[in-house]
Order: sequence, then structure tokens, then C-alpha cells
Amino acid sequence: PTGLLGDALGRPLHDLRISVTDRCNFRCSYCMPKEVFDKHHPFLPHAELLSFEEIARLARVFVAHGVEKIRLTGGEPLLRRNLEALIEMLAALRTPAGKPLDLTLTTNGSLLARKARALKAAGLQRVTVSLDALDDAVFQRMNDVGFPVAEVLAGIDAARAAGLGPIKVNMVVKRGTNEQQILPMARHFRGSGIVLRFIEYMDVGATNGWRMDEVLPSSAVLELLRREFELRPLEASAPGETAERWAYADGGGEIGLISSVSQAFCGDCNRARLSTEGKLYTCLFAHRGHDLRALLRAGADDARLAGAIAQIWEPRADRYSQLRASGGDSSGSKDSGERRVEMHYIGG
Ligand code: GTP
Ligand code: 5AD
Ligand code: SF4
Ligand code: SF4
Repeated sequence: PTGLLGDALGRPLHDLRISVTDRCNFRCSYCMPKEVFDKHHPFLPHAELLSFEEIARLARVFVAHGVEKIRLTGGEPLLRRNLEALIEMLAALRTPAGKPLDLTLTTNGSLLARKARALKAAGLQRVTVSLDALDDAVFQRMNDVGFPVAEVLAGIDAARAAGLGPIKVNMVVKRGTNEQQILPMARHFRGSGIVLRFIEYMDVGATNGWRMDEVLPSSAVLELLRREFELRPLEASAPGETAERWAYADGGGEIGLISSVSQAFCGDCNRARLSTEGKLYTCLFAHRGHDLRALLRAGADDARLAGAIAQIWEPRADRYSQLRASGGDSSGSKDSGERRVEMHYIGG
């Protein structure tokens, strides 16, 4: 059957985020702390990864059932060899109404200067680049591999020159680490056509040693910005949007606030996540995924895959951030002592 899938809370399956590798060349402390993800960490062997053909096949089934937006993530997706070939396959997909997908990618920007043109040529529409600071010392401390800001900025320039846009920049804000970078980042991207978004540091995964006192709530970010800039609230541009949008009153563009800790946005969460090895997760904070790879490799046809996806999505009642906010689940590892999935494995 084709058509829209709704979950137990009436939320449609609209957005599919596909992780194409669990590896990354950065070691951001909030995502892949160096002490945990060292040379002994067992990353997935190649045979475990979904092939591009497998990813494209699943994507086609998801799109036939209502997905209109696909985001490639990682780890660092540009580390996956020949990613352009996958992008070409996904760019060829059409929704049941005949529209192309909103096809985008989240990257740390380190390889973007080299790859932007090929990504655009393959059919990628836009990119979101993670950048936590403009100051080199702060940025290198956060990526923890000594990667310079200038190369990420060069990547952003290359993406713009290649026509990948609108470009967004994501800054994870950690109190006591990069909060002094909020204003310099805002000044830098204001008027550039690039949308800077401030993300509250989240308790995702089980390895980043998250503490509430390191979260700077978006309300504080907004207050700081408003001391220097006049800002006006904007309407959401799509249902289920993660960011609250604000415009510079003088026409200098817009910023976004992603407040999953202080103001959960589970109510209309329409996102599913496909891991590198083909497990489907219905929440960023899930403990367990549903193995679609096993079905694929057992020779399931499209109808069987569609049925499995419906069986996973329809009972979905996840709303982790909301429950955390109301004190319902703060440990993250209550059910059967299983660990929560890690962000670098499931993607942002
Ligand atoms: P666009 O605005 O369309 O570009 O996409 P998006 O809003 O989905 O943004 P993006 O993928 O850049 O996500 C930004 C950040 O928001 C992610 O890196 C996560 O930190 C956070 N985020 C995205 N989706 C979720 C979600 O479903 N739950 C929670 N708690 N956080 C999310
Ligand atoms: N809290 C908030 N955002 C995070 N990201 C990774 N880990 C966290 C976290 N603990 C963001 C990255 C990137 C995207 C992939 O997810 O900065 O923008
Ligand atoms: Fe890599 Fe992005 Fe995680 Fe940083 S946040 S370690 S760049 S996947
Ligand atoms: Fe969606 Fe889970 Fe994030 Fe809530 S916590 S917005 S349900 S992914």
C-alpha cells in the first residue's frame, strides 16, 4: 500500500536521516570523546554497512510512503568513499506527487572545500555545516584533533560557490566552553545568507558525560543576542521543524534556536533514522533499532519492506525530550540496562 504513515501520536513519517558511516575525523567531546573513541574502538567493518544499492532501495520504499526529506549524516558522511554515487541515486527519487526530495547532508566541513562541486553535480541541494567557534583555540579544543577553523570556513565558501544552498551552520553551545563565541559567530554570519543555528547541548548517547549545568538554554542565547541585535520571531517554515527562527530586524537574515533540552519539540517529530548498518530508530534517544538489513538480505520484496516499516512506525510513541523535561526519564538507560544509541552512529 502507498500513502502516509502516522504513528501512535498522529505524527507522519516525513523526514529520513541516513547515517552512512560511524567514523569521523573529529573527536568533539559532546559526541565522540577521545578517551572512548580511541584506536581500540571497534568501528563497523565494511560488510556490516548498508551498500549504496541497499540504502537507495530502502529510501525508495520510504519515499513511496510519505518521506519527502532525506538527510545524509554520519559520523562524517564525506568520509564514505564515493558518496556522490549514492547522492545520484537519491536525487533521482520522486515523491508520489512527482516532486524531487529535499536532499541534504550534515557535515563537519573538513572535506567540503575538496568535495563541494562534485556533491552539487551529483544532485545534492544543500548542506548543513557544524561549526562551534570562530576562535581557533576554542574550536580546536572542541574538535579535539587540532582542526583549524579556516579550513571549515573555506569549505563553507566552496559550498556556496558550488551553489549548495541555503547553507545552515550548526553551533552546539556548551556553557563554560564556547559561550563567548555566540556573538562573534552571530556577527560573522549575519548578512551572509547563511543561517546560524544555536543548539542546546544534549544528553544524547551514553559517553559524553553530559551535565545539565553545561547546557546554556536558548533563552540565554537569545537574551545575549538581543543586547546587540534587534530580532523578530518568524513563523515555522515547516511542521515538525527543530529550530525556532528569528530574523534580524534590519534584514540581516535569520538565526535559529534548537532547544531540545529546555523546550522539547517531540510533539510533531516526524523523523526516522537509519543507522549505518541498516537499523531503523524512531527516536534519537532510542536504545534499540529495528533491523531492516536482515530483511533486505533475506530477499524481502518492496511490499514486505513497506509492511515492516509501517509496523515499526505505526505504534511509535517516542517523545524522549518531553519526558526528560517532565522528569519521566533522565537516566537514559533504564530499560534492561541497554545503552542509548550514540549520535555519531545514528547521525544528528
Ligand atoms: P533543516 O532545518 O531542514 O535543515 O533540518 P533540521 O532542522 O532537521 O536540522 P538539522 O538536521 O541540522 O538538525 C539540527 C540539530 O538538531 C541536530 O544536529 C540535532 O542536534 C538536533 N535534532 C535534530 N533532530 C532532532 C530530534 O529529532 N530530536 C532532538 N532531540 N534533536 C534533534
Ligand atoms: N548535543 C547537541 N548537538 C549535538 N551534535 C552532536 N552531538 C550533540 C550533542 N550532544 C550535533 C553536531 C552536529 C550534528 C550532527 O549534531 O554539532 O551539528
Ligand atoms: Fe564528528 Fe560531528 Fe560527532 Fe563532531 S559532532 S565528532 S564532527 S560526527
Ligand atoms: Fe523526536 Fe525523540 Fe527528538 Fe523527541 S527526542 S524530537 S521524539 S527524536
